Amino acid sequence: MSSSNNTIFITQAGGCLNGKLRVPGDKSISHRSIMFGSLAEGVTDVNGFLEGEDCLSTMKAFRAMGVEIEHSGEGRVRIHGVGLHGLKQPDGDLDLGNSGTSMRLMAGLCAGQSFPVTLTGDASLSTRPMRRVTDPLKEMGAVIGTTEKGTPPLKISGDTKLNAITYTLPMASAQVKSCLLLAGMYAEGKTCITEPAPTRDHTERMLQGFGYQVDRNGPTACLEGGGKLTAANIDVPADISSATFFMVGASIAEGSDILLENVGINPTRDGVISILKLMGADITLSNEKEICGEPVADIRVKSANLQGIDIPEDLVPLAIDEFPAIFIAAACAEGVTRLTGAEELRVKESDRIQVMADGLIALGIKVEPTPDGIVIQPGTFSGGEVHSHGDHRIAMSFAMAALRATGDITINDCDNVATSFPNFIELANHSGLKISN
Ligand code: S3P
Repeated sequence: MSSSNNTIFITQAGGCLNGKLRVPGDKSISHRSIMFGSLAEGVTDVNGFLEGEDCLSTMKAFRAMGVEIEHSGEGRVRIHGVGLHGLKQPDGDLDLGNSGTSMRLMAGLCAGQSFPVTLTGDASLSTRPMRRVTDPLKEMGAVIGTTEKGTPPLKISGDTKLNAITYTLPMASAQVKSCLLLAGMYAEGKTCITEPAPTRDHTERMLQGFGYQVDRNGPTACLEGGGKLTAANIDVPADISSATFFMVGASIAEGSDILLENVGINPTRDGVISILKLMGADITLSNEKEICGEPVADIRVKSANLQGIDIPEDLVPLAIDEFPAIFIAAACAEGVTRLTGAEELRVKESDRIQVMADGLIALGIKVEPTPDGIVIQPGTFSGGEVHSHGDHRIAMSFAMAALRATGDITINDCDNVATSFPNFIELANHSGLKISN
């Protein structure tokens, strides 16, 4: 899906990555810090907030619902919480830009409000499937509509009584799980959500940090409606999804040695480390500690000879956002890499299986996309031109491919890199890549 402008990255062939770097704050945790801080009683201070467009969309939406949020830049945010029932009806629709996380989580929250809200998004978000949240929310009693195709805008009537739900997710999705838990706070009774495979658990951790009891029993998370959130300060760790581009870049480019500082290594997010290690990557963790209920560590990555693997399916949800970069690593490995069980990649910011396959083929790599994955043959990247289709993670993944290419790589449609990694070019160039735009 193309965005309105067309920022082009031109990445020079060759080079390696070196030095210490701190990638921006975790996107999932930054979104939730605004949401839970807004609904809490008291003042929440956030440090390390991701200054990316997606999280700023969430901030704008809560301001539009009457929450006072001070934002002094450089990751510092102060939220004057209004309590679970203190949001006000916004003047117009809430435009959530490119952010699926904002829309799906806010669908659950807004279903519990006393006023109507319409959630809209950009061209990409407007094609993404929303019935996965609207169907169970309707079962809870919400009145919520999509287009005929099940896509945004989401029109939520509000002022309806919600009942608790016991629900098994049809797909491994933290967004759907979170949506229903958030709606569950406004419902009568105990809401229990069971997931088919572990997905990121930031919602459960952070709700507990804000004093809302969540009971976890294996694959099931339960909470009682009618509780309250109490303000809690948040230090957001660096985003492992953003660190991934550098982990892959350093692994594939001979002579690399980088230290990524203070990265979140929540076990529901660290699939990329497991997958790269299975491929033979040289990754070591140090300085492991827990900050605000989330494990963090410094991650050192040196270049290594990677091997192709069959990616274990149980690692797929734990690395769901990291596959575009992992595909770049796979093309540089010795031997074939096969991914299965990853059909969710087809409904991300772009169809990540097809868009990556097209780009890899354009750079001379032999790949075979399948309905739920891809087979990638080892090869050498030629220079050339690829299209990110407005997908931030596709753009940054192909930027790393240049480290092992025989010619420069031009990447089209890179505006949305700003949704998750606004200073990507600066950090990448600082550590050894040569990107101009
Ligand atoms: C997210 C969950 C994931 C992920 C997205 C952020 C979250 O989506 O892809 O970037 O913050 O809950 P799904 O839960 O739909 O897989």
